[in-house]
Order: sequence, then C-alpha cells, then structure tokens
Amino acid sequence: MRIWSVDRLISPVVAAFILVFGLLAAPAWAQTTTANDPAQQAVSEQQLLDEFGKIKGRITIPDQKAATLQQPQGRDYQSFQRSTLPWVGAIAIIGMLLAIALFFFIRGRVRTQAGESGQKILRFNAFERLMHWTTATAFIVLAITGLNLIFGRRLLLPLIGPEAFSTWSSWGKYAHHFVSWVFMLGILVMLVVWVWHNLPDRYDANWIKSAGGLLDKSNRTHPPAGRFNTGQKLVFWSVVLGGGLLSVSGIYMLFPFAFTDVSGMQTAQYVHAIIGVLMVAVIIAHIYIGTLGMEGAYEAMGSGSVDLNWAREHHSAWVDKQQAKGKIDGRPPSHAAAEPAE
Ligand code: HEM
Repeated sequence: MRIWSVDRLISPVVAAFILVFGLLAAPAWAQTTTANDPAQQAVSEQQLLDEFGKIKGRITIPDQKAATLQQPQGRDYQSFQRSTLPWVGAIAIIGMLLAIALFFFIRGRVRTQAGESGQKILRFNAFERLMHWTTATAFIVLAITGLNLIFGRRLLLPLIGPEAFSTWSSWGKYAHHFVSWVFMLGILVMLVVWVWHNLPDRYDANWIKSAGGLLDKSNRTHPPAGRFNTGQKLVFWSVVLGGGLLSVSGIYMLFPFAFTDVSGMQTAQYVHAIIGVLMVAVIIAHIYIGTLGMEGAYEAMGSGSVDLNWAREHHSAWVDKQQAKGKIDGRPPSHAAAEPAE
C-alpha cells in the first residue's frame, strides 16, 4: 500500500509556499491598499495644528466662530486664568502691602518737620478735586469687581455661598461695564489737566538720587520739587498709560469679536488682567502715602489747601513759583526746604 503520492505531497507544499509568501508580502500589500484609504490619506490633527495654529471647518450657521474646532492657545489661556493670573495678582498685591508695612516699620510716618505754619495755600482747585475723586471712585469700583473675577470663586464663594456670590458677581459685572466709562473719561481729563506738571524737569535727577528723602529717617532731606515730585510723576504716568491700556483692552472686551478674533480677544484679556492687578498695587502705595504715610498730604485732595510749611518741605520749587506769581502772601521765595534743616 502506497501511503503517500505526489498529489498528496504537492498540496501541503503549495499551502506552505502560499503561507510564507503571503506573510512576506503582507506589509507591502497593506501599504498599497492604505494608499487608497481616505482615512489614512487625511492629514493628522497635529499637522493641521502645526500648519494653521487651529483646526477650523466650514459651517453654514451665521456665527463663524463656531467653525473653530480646536485652538490649542485656549489651553494656555485657561491655565493663565486659573493659575498664572491669581499668582501674579497675589504676589503684586500682597508684595506691595508687605513693602508698605516694611517701609512704615523702618521710616514711620513722614512728618512736617517745621510743624504747621498756620498759613494755607491752594494746591488743587475744585475741578481738579472733582476729577481726582471721580476717577478714584471709579477705579476702586473697577478694582473690587475686577478682583472678584480673579479671586472671588476661591475666596468669597466659600464664605457667602453660591446664591449670594452669583447675585454679587452679576451686579459686579454690570458695575464693571458701566463704571469703566467714567474711569476712561477721568483718565482722559487727568491727562489733559495734569500732563504739563508731570513732564520731566531739572529736579528729577536729584530727587531720584536721594530717593525723595523718603529713606532719611531723620526727616531732614527734602529735595526740591515742582508741583509734582518724581514719585508722583511715576504715579501719574502709571495711571495714564496703565489706564489707557486698560481702556483699550477693556473696549475690546466690551464689544467681543467686534475688532478681533479669538486669539486677539485672549491677548486683550491678558493685557487687561495683568495691567489691572499691577495698577491696583501701585494705587495701594498711592493711597498709603496720601493718607497714613505722610502727615498733611490728604488735605491737598480733601480741602484742596495745604499748610505752607508742608508745601515748602515737599514742593519747594512750586512754592517759589506760586510766590513769584503773587499767589502766596508773606515771606519771599525760600529754598530752605531744599537744604537739610538744622
Ligand atoms: C481713595 C484713595 C485715594 C486717596 C486717599 C488719594 C489721595 C491723593 C492725594 C492726597 C493726592 C495729592 C498729593 C499731593 O498733594 O501732591 C493725590 C493725587 C493723585 N491721585 Fe490720588 N488718591 C486716591 C485714589 C486715587 C486713584 C484710584 C487714582 C487713579 C486711578 C489716583 C490718582 C492720582 C493722581 C494721578 C494724582 C496726582 C499725582 C500724585 O499726586 O501722585 N488717586 N491723590
């Protein structure tokens, strides 16, 4: 009995050949077939993002913004909102409060060394005071309602609960939107009225060199200054330039997408929030020096008049000018305040 035949042998050999050849040829075959697979042919998500910065489709509804499917900068924006901004804000504000506390601890209150003369001179007229207090009130409303957007959910919500927080926040939003116009107008008027007194002058270099005499514990150094000293000029320009940037970026946000696209809106928000918290820090220092920090300073914006000795110590060149114009009775121009007192 023949247990094998050529026929029987051929079929396993053919099968094995087909199997081995098939395995070897499979990748090449697979490649040629994917060339016709539309899903494989399509560019990857990453390629699109690298090329265009976002993935956008085509839609038929009027709101074309909805056509953007992915914009990775959105993730940066979200992490800025949730983490970078609160950190920058907290460091700027708490840092400024600590710096003021340290300054107060070392230097104490800046006193009028010569004491009160009893003679008052006009420092700011009624219009200037109205302009200052209107802008200041608007800024404080904007600062509180703006800080609520950054810190409210973390700090206030756990204290007052969701109902009260949502009512307060929606009123805060309206206040922020409407009061912003008062602030913008105030900044513009301040610029026009005070710009001439805030240009650099010959007293600035010396004022900077002696740090305005602020670090002299004996209270003897009072560098001469015009109507505004260098420190005040810095406050003025921070308010005007910072306020200008806040206004422009704020207008972009008051009219969303009217002037720019999604990434422009994000940039406006970055600028607005960062400048906003920095300005809050600057104004905290300004409020300190205008009240607790310096004896006699508040009266300038309160009643509008200051004691002549105060004016001589802090703004001697301005007093000389006022005297030369005949606006102050009494003693002739004096540089006494510019010199270290005996
Ligand atoms: C409620 C708190 C505030 C107080 C107590 C205060 C107080 C004062 C005082 C006393 C002066 C006059 C200083 C001098 O005689 O030379 C002054 C000036 C000024 N204030 Fe205010 N202010 C406050 C808020 C603000 C705010 C919020 C802004 C702006 C956003 C502002 C902007 C200015 C500017 C630009 C000047 C002129 C430059 C200077 O003196 O630094 N103030 N402020």
